[in-house]
Amino acid sequence: MRILVTGAAGMLGKDLVPVLARKHRVRGADLADFDVTDREAAERFIGAERPEMVIHAAAFTDVEGAEHDPARVMRVNADGARNVAAACGFHGARLILISTDYVFDGTKGAPYVESDRPAPLNVYGRSKLEGERLARQELPGVTVIRTAWLYSAGGRNNFPAKILKAARKGKSLKVVADEVGSPTWAADLAKAIGQIVDLGAAGPLYHLAGGGFCSRFEMAMELFSCLGIRDCELVKVSRENYPANVLRPQNSSLDSERIGREGIKPLRNWKESLREFAGMLGSHQVG
Ligand SMILES: NC(=O)c1ccc[n+]([C@@H]2O[C@H](COP(=O)([O-])OP(=O)(O)OC[C@H]3O[C@@H](n4cnc5c(N)ncnc54)[C@H](OP(=O)(O)O)[C@@H]3O)[C@@H](O)[C@H]2O)c1
Repeated sequence: MRILVTGAAGMLGKDLVPVLARKHRVRGADLADFDVTDREAAERFIGAERPEMVIHAAAFTDVEGAEHDPARVMRVNADGARNVAAACGFHGARLILISTDYVFDGTKGAPYVESDRPAPLNVYGRSKLEGERLARQELPGVTVIRTAWLYSAGGRNNFPAKILKAARKGKSLKVVADEVGSPTWAADLAKAIGQIVDLGAAGPLYHLAGGGFCSRFEMAMELFSCLGIRDCELVKVSRENYPANVLRPQNSSLDSERIGREGIKPLRNWKESLREFAGMLGSHQVG
């Protein structure tokens, strides 16, 4: 199949393109190829490439930064998704849209299933939910995949990368202990998306995140333990005592309920993935 991946230079895109390329003809595109906020450019690019499927992973993903420029974030995440969906509709391509756990407000107190009602708390979450809505309006057959707390070795802005960078600088590190989510290794997610493509799973909405859930503090503890970091103490803090300019959901963990019905195994437990990720990072990343 001919597949176009937007956001190919991003964290997920970098893992997704090579996974899909094992079986398909894949074209990765990023901002340098076309800007998703430009409807005509999206249509021209997709028209020229003629993909049978588009996986739209391009997005504005800086959750804190998003609060400073809501209009731009809406253009990229909401109008961008609509533009890509419209171009797919025009040129007869299927669309998989990547979305987020931040469409939820985190008050359920248990992992969110696909039928739960979204109620985003911040600009990023609102823009992604609007992207889902506009894409579905343009292309009713769109498949939305919501994931969460993504990390990878190639990612710049993800939690493990931030924690390891901070650990190199100080003897102690404050980490929030009352914010819970489902850490997801981009490599695992890329493989599962590959299965969705290969099996032709075409449901309207799937949650797809690392199995189980944990707090940011538990994730940092596990990472330090895997990497043998002992010269930096992790200190538990509550959200109230941690400076942030953005409201985040307290528990946005995801239950990947629907994907099993498609014959696709949900992602493995977050700890197992984090251990393998840490093993691949190696000690040179830490010192
Ligand atoms: N990261 C997470 O924790 C997380 C969690 C849940 C869901 N998601 C979703 O998963 C998907 C992939 O996330 P990611 O972490 O891989 O994102 P990422 O690393 O930030 O990559 C996104 C890519 O999109 C590009 N992009 C931004 N604006 C664009 C535009 N106007 N036109 C074309 N390309 C543009 C970016 O280019 P520049 O770098 O040049 O801006 C970047 O290469 C996104 O839809 C995101 O919302 C992410």
